[in-house]
Amino acid sequence: MPEREAREYPGVPLGCRGLFSPHVEEYASRRVQAVAVMRSVLLALSRNRTANRLAKKYGLRFGATRFVAGDTIEKAVECIRDLNRRGIMGALNYLGEFENTEQGAAEKTRKLIETLDAIHSSGIDCNLTVKITSLGLDISKEICVANLTKIVEHAKKYNIFVRIEMEDYSHCQQTLDIYKEMRQKYDNVGAVIQGYLYRSEKDIEDLNQYKANLRLVKGAYKESAEVAFPKKADVDRNYEKIIKMHLSNGNYAAIASHDEAIIEKVKQFVKEKNIPKDQFEFQMLLGIRSDLAQKLANEGYRVRIYVPYGTDWYGYFMRRLAERPANVWFVLKNLFR
Ligand code: FDA
Repeated sequence: MPEREAREYPGVPLGCRGLFSPHVEEYASRRVQAVAVMRSVLLALSRNRTANRLAKKYGLRFGATRFVAGDTIEKAVECIRDLNRRGIMGALNYLGEFENTEQGAAEKTRKLIETLDAIHSSGIDCNLTVKITSLGLDISKEICVANLTKIVEHAKKYNIFVRIEMEDYSHCQQTLDIYKEMRQKYDNVGAVIQGYLYRSEKDIEDLNQYKANLRLVKGAYKESAEVAFPKKADVDRNYEKIIKMHLSNGNYAAIASHDEAIIEKVKQFVKEKNIPKDQFEFQMLLGIRSDLAQKLANEGYRVRIYVPYGTDWYGYFMRRLAERPANVWFVLKNLFR
């Protein structure tokens, strides 16, 4: 246990690890509650628009560079070049979400088209991953679809794949409807399904008719028990189930997780079922378990790292802290640098 904690909490003083670690045996319920409260606070902060505005103004701070490649496309391309050299592919994300003006959504679209141009001209092995609330989903579905169409069409010219991300539950149905609409016209588009939602099993069945290329994740937003499994063990179980379903249906799966136990189960499953290595890939986030990503790439698996860039880093950063409250320690350290 101490070695595991030391690996998972590098730099966190010994006495503080237990405060964050879910692996400590005598796990006092007060500590569980403290972590749950911290998670809720961080997730609530991730949606705070004033904090987001300030964060944009003052640039990457508080150790956010651990999770974000930089504020320019040049830095992001450099980061992916380095990954490619190590046999790992990239997924570029121009940061931004919840755009509520038409002009802002058009600007995001322009930036994403520039990102596609940069992927193409630099020759990096990389695709694009997009949050469609940044393309105006909260303004109107029509505006969002028009912007997304421009992006997917531009990507198609370069033979670049575009992943539509899944955001909070309130956008889930609309996001899947838009994905299906796009999928009928384009083959370079994919979606994301979250294991924590009760509905996901049905969505996997439904998306089978689209031969969907899906990224499968556990889910990163704060959702109510009415729509999502509240217990981590249930999320993990459902996550494993939908991965197996999607792979067994013969569809391409991007298994996006840092959970070693899940990754081992997937490796075992594909071996047993003779699922070829080019029917799936493992995905991880920049700054998290890069050792594991490299190990998988060395073993011959397809591995892709999600590389976010841009000035709109705040919401993304807060969600990374919420997933792993031990990361708050890094923020505190960076505050005093
Ligand atoms: P879990 O949370 O059980 O963590 C397993 C282990 O991973 C931990 O024990 C720790 O070692 C490490 N770890 C996990 N998170 C960490 C962190 N923040 N810092 C340090 N260590 C950490 N979600 C969503 O709702 N919509 C989406 O579109 C996406 N897209 C997406 C793309 C990619 C490439 C990835 C990897 C993830 C997403 N996610 C997402 C996020 C996802 O839903 C989930 O919140 C995180 O991946 C954390 O869950 P794990 O599967 O890693 O397992």
